[in-house]
Amino acid sequence: MTTNYLLPRVFGQDYPRIVRAEGIRLWDAEGHEYIDSTSGAISVVSVGHGRREVADAIAAQVLRMDYVHDNEFHNEPAHALAEVVTSFAGGDFSRAVFFSSGSEAIESAIKLAHDYHRLQGNPARATVIGRKRSFHGATMFAMAAGDVSARKSIYGGYVSSATAKVPAPYCYRCPLGLRYPDCALACADELERTIQELGPDNVSAFIAEPIVGAAAPALTPPAGYYERIREICDRYGVLWIADEIVTGFGRTGLNMGYQHWNAQPDILVVAKGLSGGYIPLSGLIISERGCRALRGAPRALRPRADLPEPPGCLCCRARRRRDHRAGRSSWRTPRPRANTWRPVCVTWRRACPWWASSVARASCGAWSSSRIQVTKEPFPRALSVGRRVYERGLHNGLVIYQSGGSVYASDEVFISPPLVVSRADIDEIVERFGRTLEEVQAEVLEHAPAVPA
Ligand SMILES: Cc1ncc(COP(=O)(O)O)c(C=O)c1O
Repeated sequence: MTTNYLLPRVFGQDYPRIVRAEGIRLWDAEGHEYIDSTSGAISVVSVGHGRREVADAIAAQVLRMDYVHDNEFHNEPAHALAEVVTSFAGGDFSRAVFFSSGSEAIESAIKLAHDYHRLQGNPARATVIGRKRSFHGATMFAMAAGDVSARKSIYGGYVSSATAKVPAPYCYRCPLGLRYPDCALACADELERTIQELGPDNVSAFIAEPIVGAAAPALTPPAGYYERIREICDRYGVLWIADEIVTGFGRTGLNMGYQHWNAQPDILVVAKGLSGGYIPLSGLIISERGCRALRGAPRALRPRADLPEPPGCLCCRARRRRDHRAGRSSWRTPRPRANTWRPVCVTWRRACPWWASSVARASCGAWSSSRIQVTKEPFPRALSVGRRVYERGLHNGLVIYQSGGSVYASDEVFISPPLVVSRADIDEIVERFGRTLEEVQAEVLEHAPAVPA
């Protein structure tokens, strides 16, 4: 047995050792092939693995100029990337700043929101309102702003109490027991109620994923939800931070996830698809209104000192140049595939009726099971339905993301393959995923028979 010096995420679990990656496929040391249908959990490697032009661009930039510190200098690639991403993000976004991880960018957005209020003479605005069933990262405040209880409970006293939560806009199992549209968007109004309860002068920002990633796969708020959120934030002077770490850069069929609604956030937090996993890179894209208020700041946010920003920025631009030459943008979901998963969901629901809820939006799809479809009662957590799907998937050569940390999590899985998937790749994913669900269904129903709808 070889000695293992690497601290694993979970002791005792067997992790295949990946030695090669190309396009949408991975190979382990034993020669097994996997389709990476999560783009590297989740939605990271949007342009696919092993792209030479990106590697070449990074290498060339490192040789030309590898690192300078923002305290003394600016650099050309960072300027150029800021210009590209602000215009790509739409709306009135006018500045960008870069970091190295999603969690770090989330923390920076929270700091920026605080600076914004402080400069307007409101330093007491220090509470951030997040949502149930959300994930914003693994650093301490990012964790506090999110709602993955399995992770938060471990760190107890370290997790900031300067946060509050409002219910998720989860129509399938509405936490308020209501039905859309009769509910009149009561879940959005919960934000107003919470602001009033905390006292508007204490609230800094509202943070949410436009369409939820890991914590509630593909949970999509109903029409009108973010328009209402915008109104409420404006009414109380609260900033709206959109965590676009999963949804940004074409993952949901539009440039940014917020664009599915008719309302613009104040700050976008981006990572993952921004660099496609080739280099650790994240950022904030800030609206003109936010920038105007920050102009008086004696010292704006500090990007990470040891971040090799030029290669990171260049890597992103290399992707775009190449994809424009090929007649498409890698930051945009190819239109013909935008609704790929919808018919797939219908077919699978017929084959595996206990996969009661499925959501499909452009290049991501999510499946959640119900033991009893009428009451939407989930399978017992101990059955680890999602875990079984993940493990069977690997066995069938398909990487599937299993959601974790919430009461329904064991039932939910997520697929978000690289945006460069071909029609033939999708057919293969569909075949492997369908086979996986059927196998798990047979296994689970032995232990917990489903009651037909
Ligand atoms: C929606 C969302 N926000 C924030 C993060 C944190 O990003 P990172 O892992 O780069 O710190 C993630 C990571 O999965 C995420 O999915």
